[in-house]
Amino acid sequence: MTDRELMSLAKRASLNAYVPYSRFPVGAALECDDGTVFTGCNVENAALGSTICAERTACCKAVSEGHRSFRRIAIYADSENWCTPCGACRQFLSEFCKDHDMEVLCAKAGERYVSYKLSELLPHTFNY
Ligand code: THU
Repeated sequence: MTDRELMSLAKRASLNAYVPYSRFPVGAALECDDGTVFTGCNVENAALGSTICAERTACCKAVSEGHRSFRRIAIYADSENWCTPCGACRQFLSEFCKDHDMEVLCAKAGERYVSYKLSELLPHTFNY
């Protein structure tokens, strides 16, 4: 799957975002090492701290289906700034690519996106 195809799955997933509080829909498409893709959206809650980001939704879907190693994630928000993953999501993703790096594609409104390695976004991840 191309980067663009993965990003278009992320964009489509953002349409399912449950965002009555922030009105900021985010979509993610996570590619596992074997090529399987899981999508996710953010799901908010009246207890705001219980909100789950799109990236972690996709991650939990993958892990709960037996996938534990990821190679790429595309993140889309119809936003002014590049939608890079929050700190918690960076740490969360790092759990599932301990022996290799992962590519993180971050979009904003429109067709363009920027690409990072997870290790650039979160060097020195917590681990034990
Ligand atoms: N959000 C994500 O889904 N992913 C991110 O990487 C950053 C933030 C969500 C959480 C919340 O529902 C909304 O965006 C505003 O913070």
